[in-house]
Amino acid sequence: MLRIDNLQVSIGGSRILRGVQLEVPANRLVCLMGRNGVGKTTTLKSITGLQKTIAGEITFEGRSILNMKPENRARAGIAYVPQGRDIFPNLTVLENLKIGLVATGRKVNGQMTRVLDLFPILKEFLARKGGVLSGGQQQQLAIARALLTEPKLLILDEPTEGIQPNIIDLIGDTLQKLKSDSAMSILLVEQYLDFCKDLADDFYIMDRGAIVAHGGIGELTDEVVRKYLTV
Ligand SMILES: Nc1ncnc2c1ncn2[C@@H]1O[C@H](COP(=O)(O)OP(=O)(O)OP(=O)(O)O)[C@@H](O)[C@H]1O
Ligand SMILES: [Mg+2]
Repeated sequence: MLRIDNLQVSIGGSRILRGVQLEVPANRLVCLMGRNGVGKTTTLKSITGLQKTIAGEITFEGRSILNMKPENRARAGIAYVPQGRDIFPNLTVLENLKIGLVATGRKVNGQMTRVLDLFPILKEFLARKGGVLSGGQQQQLAIARALLTEPKLLILDEPTEGIQPNIIDLIGDTLQKLKSDSAMSILLVEQYLDFCKDLADDFYIMDRGAIVAHGGIGELTDEVVRKYLTV
């Protein structure tokens, strides 16, 4: 589904990604982990087209997307839930959702109902301003907005960051459901190890701009966790 080869990124003269190598197969959930500042978000922004790359290749369904604008990558089926959620605080929940649709030029064909069924709290709060929602509710809104585009690949950047445990469970259940019901591929950046272990098929670990370990989630050893994840 998605393949990244030897990806290199520089920001302000410093090399941030040094040959990232990563694959998200169809209908699998891949977890990208690593400590703060190692390049996880930069990798995701390179996939969505928000970060300029200097070398390497990114293919989606077998075609290079490096020369595609972010909106065309979204139309091709890549949806992105950014770190920190990025919803519009002064727009209502419903307006925030509609923007997700407008952005990709999709017609409304029932996906609003399906998405709201995944997150019942949003249905209740459609007329509220996004900014008054709790962190967990805003995260649900950001995921719902991404899902309205009916992506083939859903990319999430630390969706559990600063969120209470019951909402983390709800998000986990939702991701599992999306994978089994709609055959979606999911690339999840996460620092919450147990969340990854529960959900992921495959893991990748990043350190200083490169992948240092990867495999099936069952192959993630305590030694690797100690070396690259715990502080
Ligand atoms: N716009 C920018 N200007 C300067 N440096 C940047 C910029 N964006 C990222 N960096 C640097 O690139 C490195 C990787 O950042 P990135 O946001 O990709 O890390 P991350 O793994 O997502 O970290 P976190 O877990 O804290 O979100 C960091 O050292 C960061 O300071
Ligand atoms: Mg980040």
